[in-house]
Amino acid sequence: MRGELRYEGKAKRVYATSDPGQYIVEYKDDATAFNGVKRAQIAGKGAINNAITARLYPRLEAAGIPTHFIRLLSPNQQLVRAVSIIPVEVIVRNVAAGSFSKRLGIAEGTPLPHPVIEYCYKSDALGDPLINTDTALSLGWASEGQLLKIRELALKVRHFLTPFFEQRGVRLIDFKLEFGTLEGGAVVLADEISPDTCRFWDAGTGEKLDKDRFRRDLGGVEDAYAEMLRRVLRED
Ligand code: TMP
Ligand code: ASP
Repeated sequence: MRGELRYEGKAKRVYATSDPGQYIVEYKDDATAFNGVKRAQIAGKGAINNAITARLYPRLEAAGIPTHFIRLLSPNQQLVRAVSIIPVEVIVRNVAAGSFSKRLGIAEGTPLPHPVIEYCYKSDALGDPLINTDTALSLGWASEGQLLKIRELALKVRHFLTPFFEQRGVRLIDFKLEFGTLEGGAVVLADEISPDTCRFWDAGTGEKLDKDRFRRDLGGVEDAYAEMLRRVLRED
């Protein structure tokens, strides 16, 4: 049974359950960009992102990455383990794009021979500023051991996801992860992995199949999300 609303973010709501160790996450169709400045609805997005995450997280678990995911409950809801979210957005980049390209003057699409991991402070009010692991340590957001674990898990996620998408005709350009801690401090992958949180480019045409279609007013947003769901559901 769904209990009280514990947290409402831009794209999801988190509810308590009768078990203090479990939460229900409800995925919304609401889309925002530029830290909430641009807002709209993307029809079907909540169900698509819920389904994509529900498909990927058990596979990540099988690849040795602990996650908060328990099971799908309904088209827009999934049951997860209750975690405290570490307020650090972890970005992994295979190819230059977005804020990396802008900040460093590197053309979008330039391959990065070594994976780049970036950390941002999860704060809309401050515009998710770039930080480093010393900042997170000093401000008490995570311990040294937890930060090492986060880096190790982020690289493991990349190691699984990059070929997974390649086999489905998609170049995984970059993605954003969030981690949480269980009682006792163990780090697990939380949040979602979806076209909201990744850049996906069609391997053949270079067409964008992610939230950049919304951010950059490219049109065809719903079609791109639906296409990504189809590809993720494709069998190996
Ligand atoms: P960026 O190039 O804008 O920093 O984005 C890097 C990746 O992180 C991209 O796949 C989109 C994702 N992302 C989020 O999931 N949430 C955010 O708030 C931002 C800024 C980016
Ligand atoms: N998720 C962020 C926002 O709402 C930024 C983004 O995805 O571009 O505004």
